[in-house]
Amino acid sequence: MSRAATLGLLVATYVVVSVVAYTDFPRRTSVQPLTEIEHEGLLVWRRHNCQACHQIFGYGGFLGPDLTNRVGNETATDALRPMLTRGSGRMPALDLPISEQDAVLAYLRRLNRSGRSQPVPLGAGQTADPVDHFQQITTAWIREDGRDVAPAVRRGSEVWGLQRCGTCHLPFDVGPVLSPDLSGAAVDTSVARLHDLLDRGKGRMPSFRLTREETVDLSAYLAWVSTHRADLVMLNDRMLDREPFSWTEVPWFEYR
Ligand code: HEC
Ligand code: HEC
Repeated sequence: MSRAATLGLLVATYVVVSVVAYTDFPRRTSVQPLTEIEHEGLLVWRRHNCQACHQIFGYGGFLGPDLTNRVGNETATDALRPMLTRGSGRMPALDLPISEQDAVLAYLRRLNRSGRSQPVPLGAGQTADPVDHFQQITTAWIREDGRDVAPAVRRGSEVWGLQRCGTCHLPFDVGPVLSPDLSGAAVDTSVARLHDLLDRGKGRMPSFRLTREETVDLSAYLAWVSTHRADLVMLNDRMLDREPFSWTEVPWFEYR
């Protein structure tokens, strides 16, 4: 190549790179502005300093869970309201009025649509977050040719997630503190038994302050899991691509 051609090519490259850099080409798809209620939710989020305890896309405090993808379209928002009013053991009782609950949930729903905080969704060979694990199996079951569950079962599944029963009780396996698999036929998950157990705790199972309705829903949910055990085990195996993964290898240091 001649000297002039080389020089010409360099200059042309320089011009093209400059144009690309200055015009920000290809243009980013413009982000839709927050709606009024979503913006109100953002203000609620800031006012109560939620991010001191919760992460968004992995950024924030670690006392509570990452909320980026917590509120989706299928989430029963009514099940989240007690958390925003009464709180739980570690989540403070914020007593948010209903309008602020709606706003902050709208904001969280919008966040969910903006991307995934865990880049890889649950797929073959992946470990599941134990807290969400049962819910993911349940959702997968519902997705298969448009099946559905009774509202009480759905609410019970939300209570299960909110109370984080899944940190100890694993699907179809013995859990970290020898917490039993609750889907077995021998386990009594009747309302009366649950009520008693949750009220008092037992051994390494802590007590939980649940309302009567929450206990009834939990019982319905556990009965549903038990009835559909065979189906759910198969789904779970498929989701986890079982072979290389064992729950017993997960470091449960927090509970030792
Ligand atoms: C002092 C720390 C703290 C603050 C502040 C806080 N949270 Fe929480 N939050 C927690 C903890 C801890 C949990 C887990 C509760 C549990 O497991 O008992 C939680 C749970 C939740 C859950 C349920 C999550 C799930 O997956 O079940 C939601 C929703 C939530 N918080 C929303 C909020 C919102 C909205 C705000 C602000 C208005 C907020 N939190 C402020 C600590 C906090
Ligand atoms: C910190 C761990 C832990 C958490 C969290 C936990 N459990 Fe348990 N659970 C246990 C252990 C351990 C046992 C066995 C207790 C025993 O028999 O000594 C148990 C037993 C049970 C049983 C009785 C099983 C039987 O064989 O009779 C039920 C039902 C149950 N849990 C439901 C729940 C529900 C519902 C939640 C959430 C609201 C929950 N657990 C949260 C640890 C836990």
